[in-house]
Amino acid sequence: MNNSERQELAIISPESYWHEQAKLVAWYKAPQTILSTNSDSWHEWFVDGELNSCYLALDYHVEQGRGAQVALIYDSPVTGQKQQFTYQELTTLVAKFADVLKKQQVSKGDRVLIYMPMIPQAAIAMLACARLGVIHSVVFGGFAANELAVRINDAEPKVIVSASCGIEIAKVIPYKPLIDEAIEKAIHKPKSCIIYQREQVQAQLIKNRDLDWQTQMDIAVEIPPVAVKSTDPLYILYTSGTTGKPKGVVRDNGGHAVAMLYSMKNIYGMQPGDTFWAASDVGWVVGHSYIIYGTLMAGCTSIIYEGKPIKTPDAGAFWRVCAEYKVNALFTAPTAFRAIGKEDPEGDFLKDYDLSSLKRLYLAGERLDPTTYLWLKEKTQLPIIDHWWQTETGWAIASTPLDDGTGNMMTTKAGSSGPAVAGYNVQILDIHGQQVPAGQQGSVVIKLPLPPGCLATIYRDPQRLLSGYLSTYPGYYLTGDGGYIDEDGYLFIMGRTDDVINVAGHRLSTGEMEEVLSAHPAVAECAVVGINDTLKGQMPLGLVVIKNGIRTSDTQLVSELRQSIRTSIGAIASLKNLFIIDRLPKTRSGKILRKTLRQMIEGQKIEIPSTIEDSQVITELSATLANINKE
Ligand code: COA
Ligand code: AMP
Repeated sequence: MNNSERQELAIISPESYWHEQAKLVAWYKAPQTILSTNSDSWHEWFVDGELNSCYLALDYHVEQGRGAQVALIYDSPVTGQKQQFTYQELTTLVAKFADVLKKQQVSKGDRVLIYMPMIPQAAIAMLACARLGVIHSVVFGGFAANELAVRINDAEPKVIVSASCGIEIAKVIPYKPLIDEAIEKAIHKPKSCIIYQREQVQAQLIKNRDLDWQTQMDIAVEIPPVAVKSTDPLYILYTSGTTGKPKGVVRDNGGHAVAMLYSMKNIYGMQPGDTFWAASDVGWVVGHSYIIYGTLMAGCTSIIYEGKPIKTPDAGAFWRVCAEYKVNALFTAPTAFRAIGKEDPEGDFLKDYDLSSLKRLYLAGERLDPTTYLWLKEKTQLPIIDHWWQTETGWAIASTPLDDGTGNMMTTKAGSSGPAVAGYNVQILDIHGQQVPAGQQGSVVIKLPLPPGCLATIYRDPQRLLSGYLSTYPGYYLTGDGGYIDEDGYLFIMGRTDDVINVAGHRLSTGEMEEVLSAHPAVAECAVVGINDTLKGQMPLGLVVIKNGIRTSDTQLVSELRQSIRTSIGAIASLKNLFIIDRLPKTRSGKILRKTLRQMIEGQKIEIPSTIEDSQVITELSATLANINKE
């Protein structure tokens, strides 16, 4: 069956299509009810199925005779450490850490927040939660204390699991002070914190609250997995929306397991025993799906890489890892290859390594720009697959199929993330909700129902699911992306239609940055917009209007504002372009004209909206912003 036949089947009869795919999963109780509607009028998959996601990722493979196979490789150029865990070894460690959590009175449905660098203990903590039916919420290590506090308040974790430090290129970041500050700021207080002490930093443990990971593991016993319902949440993962408050995307267990196994087979073409490397971070959805769950559920070997594409130690780092562990498919963000290409434009490092195991490269997190696509194609001579997805979907919506029906891979196209994956009914609508002809840009939507594995709800805010995704076009899920589908059915994602930006593959909200800047006593008003960046894809640019009578120097103020973004959101926000201006262009109703600002900064032709309050401000700003762009 080729992709379009599969797609047709999945769209005409989603129930029978996904009933068949659900057979990939070793359920404790196989589902009889495939698709249903819940009390929030949202669809649910496999409601009467029972399973355990940790069992599927670990114990199942031991039972199948793969206990001695390597499940997880830890490769850390920033510390010089390398370690490998077989499926049997990882199962034992996870079963013990489940006991550590259980001793903290954590049980099914409770939340555990995980704030960890890229070390195996992050995977162990996540899987131990899944083993107990406990909902984990992993927070990316690059987020600052304030972001952590927001997530603590929303998820209300009983326990926080963390490490003494994270390690960036040439700098050690102690985590414990950030955790202590976050708990101090948060209204909700966790019962305990379990801290993995790394040799680079010894964290100070607070009496009666903090526990040492290793001491607890030394006295732990192995705990078996518990059965959970298909619809029970596996995890909450916070992502940026258009407002300052991040959205807690909830993933179920059953639909997720089906989607993981389906995608590992059909999108990535992986078999048990293969090595799949998602060079991302466990704090992002890519890490959840393809460093941990999908890769392990499929019986593959996964890699936790604590390093960067460049400078750890050089631009050959990715190729070194691929050669050393015979990686069969590599998945990363385009920004990583832009960084590699910048340092090694001729691809000289490629020649130093035997990459004969590597079959394909997968890219996501932002659009793979045609220049990087062509560079990669030429230098590696491998299929380069740009595939499009979101935290909300948890797996790819569009990707070039591996089989065109004759056993060959379909052709990839520069700038396109491929046709919709079978199971996603992707359409392009205009502002009136009408489908647009091929080649014409519009809002990219997915006709309901979404396939298994996509967001179950927004944690503690199901209304936000409705208002954020479902109300614009009834019957469709709004992706927030704009783009078009060409004559051959290939999707081209051209960028967000809202205030979300993608900085080095990290999804950030400009609205949230504006909230932080506005909180400064000297700021009258401000705007943050995403501008194109050759390395990171996009970078935020902030424009600030100061209150009358403020005496602080501009340099001092800019430095304070930059620091407030680092302290509140984190260094990953990279708000380095920050400028003080006299006025912002606004509509008569007071709305800041962000699109006009972007056009001005990027030197594009400005469409002056008829609703503008004072067109003189455009003339004033144009010169200033054109200069900023040149810098
Ligand atoms: N913990 C703490 N700080 C972190 C961090 C983490 N996990 N990750 C990034 N940071 C900090 C960095 O140290 C840096 O701080 P600085 O401004 O004080 O130097 C800042 O956040 C920006 O970091 P980064 O976005 O990594 O930019 P960079 O210029 O250091 O590196 C790249 C550029 C392209 C090499 C890097 O962005 C990269 O590897 N990107 C791939 C991203 C990715 O895999 N995304 C996953 C999507 S699938
Ligand atoms: P995140 O939820 O962090 O994975 O970010 C999701 C957003 O990243 C999408 O809505 C897109 O805007 C963007 N994105 C992810 N993958 C791609 C891709 N392959 N092509 C274009 N944009 C992408």
